[in-house]
Amino acid sequence: MIRVNDNFRELPSVYLFTQISRILAKYREEESPIPLIRMDIGDVPGPIANCVADAMHKAVNDLTNLNSFKGYGPEQGYSFLREIIYLKDYKERGIDIDPSVIFISDGAKCDLGNLGDILSKDCKVAVMDPSYPAYIDDNVIDGREGKLEGNKYSAITYLKCKAENNFYPELPDNQVDIIYLCSPNNPTGSVLPKEELKKWVKYAKENHSLIIFDSAYEAYIRHTDLPKSIYEIEGAKEVAIEIRSFSKTGGFTGIRCGYSVVPKVLTGYYSNGDKVELNSLWSRRQTTKFNGASYISQRGAEALYTDEGRKSVKEMTDRFIYNASNLRKLFEDAGWSVTGGTDSPYVWAGNPFGMSSYEIFETLLKECGISTTPGSGFGEEGEGYIRLSGFNTKDNTDRAIERIGKWLNDTKHKSR
Ligand code: MLT
Repeated sequence: MIRVNDNFRELPSVYLFTQISRILAKYREEESPIPLIRMDIGDVPGPIANCVADAMHKAVNDLTNLNSFKGYGPEQGYSFLREIIYLKDYKERGIDIDPSVIFISDGAKCDLGNLGDILSKDCKVAVMDPSYPAYIDDNVIDGREGKLEGNKYSAITYLKCKAENNFYPELPDNQVDIIYLCSPNNPTGSVLPKEELKKWVKYAKENHSLIIFDSAYEAYIRHTDLPKSIYEIEGAKEVAIEIRSFSKTGGFTGIRCGYSVVPKVLTGYYSNGDKVELNSLWSRRQTTKFNGASYISQRGAEALYTDEGRKSVKEMTDRFIYNASNLRKLFEDAGWSVTGGTDSPYVWAGNPFGMSSYEIFETLLKECGISTTPGSGFGEEGEGYIRLSGFNTKDNTDRAIERIGKWLNDTKHKSR
């Protein structure tokens, strides 16, 4: 008999962004007269930088030659990429980690899910509410969720993030083993300052917890006093894994490349109390289940660290922040509660009319042809909000702003 993983029954029937895509497919099928502008999933419009394309073309050529051909690569990633990440993302910023703790992957989302393999099913998990839905879904698949009670799982601790507290998560009053922190945050766009991160590192040390720090959006931070890496906090290496991605910085959502940092001083325990380095477990897991990100994508990622590549990252992220900041202004001027759009490509907008997230989502889709992501899809605390993504062309964003602006204006008059 084929026995399947019962945990799948505990999941929502579809993943948030799949559900949105299905609704949008129907919208297109029905041939609505308003052409769709997508501001839902955080997918970049492209294009990739010329230096990245050149590096990938060259990598393809390498494969055509017997002397430069590459077959299976090192599972942990090529040293050319790990070295440059170490130098540019960490050493240059005064962070002391070494290349042997950097693991190249096919993206942050995969690492987030795969990390569950090295952690016990008995670990108690805490997530920010609202948060990127994969954190919870991954843990449900692994069996760390408990029972579904209403919209929440009994074994998961939800760290409320509220507007009055800049969407910083509150510390749990119980002991948890795994804490997911995302900064700049998806979906709220809020960035955790050093003082906040210090609290979490302290909590993790006192409670023997692991912080999984998702910094996929760090390249969007413009305020120089805000931390880009959790390792800017003293002692963080003993408690945190950091996960990064080239998706939103180099346009790699389709190419696929990211990396995780798993420090050697970070240790866990087997059920018999024996201590073990998480780095060695992760290495064991990756060497067994992963053959490495492709040589071509790693050469492309390496090119992002050249002068031209860095300039392209800055230009690309500036463009999306610009779009997001204009979206932010639009909603702010209309009296909505808004965050993001400054050090983040996302705008998180709470409506003043008491409409549910899905009501706003449907209204904007039907009346303006704009797809957003309903805030409640990210957690109970997201109810009443929508998330808009600045990942678009300027023309599309301007068009969207015009349409939404008109709707906001009409709605204001109607609600008087
Ligand atoms: C999002 O829209 O939240 C992200 O694009 C999803 C992802 O990075 O997987």
